Amino acid sequence: MSSPRRVALAGMGIYVPERIMTNKELEARLDTTGEWIQSRTGICERRIAAPEQAASDLGVIAARRALQDAGLAAEQIDLIICATASGDTTFPSTACLLQTQLGATAAGAFDISAVCSGFIYAYAAGANMIASGQAKRVLIVAAEKFTTLLDWEDRSTCVLMGDGAGAVVLTSDAKQGELLSCSLGTDSGGIENLIIPAGGSARPTTHETVDQKLHYMKMNGPEIYKFGVRIIGESVSEALKLAGLNESQLDLLIPHQANIRIIKSAAKRFNLTMDKIVVNIDRYSNTSAASVPIALAEAKEQGRLRPGMHVAMVAFGAGLTWGTVVLRW
Ligand code: ACO
Repeated sequence: MSSPRRVALAGMGIYVPERIMTNKELEARLDTTGEWIQSRTGICERRIAAPEQAASDLGVIAARRALQDAGLAAEQIDLIICATASGDTTFPSTACLLQTQLGATAAGAFDISAVCSGFIYAYAAGANMIASGQAKRVLIVAAEKFTTLLDWEDRSTCVLMGDGAGAVVLTSDAKQGELLSCSLGTDSGGIENLIIPAGGSARPTTHETVDQKLHYMKMNGPEIYKFGVRIIGESVSEALKLAGLNESQLDLLIPHQANIRIIKSAAKRFNLTMDKIVVNIDRYSNTSAASVPIALAEAKEQGRLRPGMHVAMVAFGAGLTWGTVVLRW
């Protein structure tokens, strides 16, 4: 077998819906306050997709922008991987819908189900397809209309999530964002702490499951909080080791935007000042799989990705799943 090919990042793009829902708006319809939401989570506002927009409609705009940024036509893509927990339909995959909407006629397409870790899992899968020589140009799209999975009367979950999409194109010959390592992990021991209980084959949708709101996200917030704090440290540390780097060589951390307090604990764990961590939870809340690629694209736009930097992207979510990708910019 020939040696693995280099993998780098040729382009990126994002899309967030126009409609902004502020904490003030939630105050008016729930037993909550903007002060509670902001102080406990860091969220000030989130984006909400229009009724006629599905996850693929958000993803296709981010994907077109990523292709343009990479200077590639859709026909040149040979694999599309979509990370989503809120895909348009149970089947076919949202990646299939993206393939058609983009006109990526030479591409195979599939979805990855790892919820908030989905982008990192898709990145690892796509990168390894390039490294092994089975694909040349991979489009990864993280697209979420997560607000359709929320019980809007449950203040403990609905204030946390928003809609959005981010996409990247991976190739061997891109100049920036060379992949150094990926580290993935899973532990379904905590599965009940973050789950949509009904609507799958274990508990198909019935009038009763709908009446009981079992088709919405249920979360044990404090348990997921503790898990997030612990796993970000462990996962980034493992991925840096795989990349042959010391923790002191980490220049920029792009974490999943679940809670500003979790992000600050990561800053402390890695001895990073906040200017070395990308944060946009205040404006977008938690957009699940789309959270990391949106933060990555904003970091680039703000000129925070500079040549030679070591960048770690880390996420965690339902499953429970987690993962880190380390790049050299
Ligand atoms: N407004 C006002 N009060 C609230 C709200 C709200 N929106 N939500 C909960 N509370 C109340 C609770 O009812 C509770 O009241 P009580 O003490 O009278 O029982 C009190 O606030 C404290 O509740 P906790 O859940 O202990 O609050 P905590 O400080 O843990 O914050 C939060 C809750 C923000 C959810 C936090 O636990 C958290 O961020 N957890 C991790 C979330 C996360 O990372 N999710 C990942 C999802 S990713 C995916 O894969 C989908």
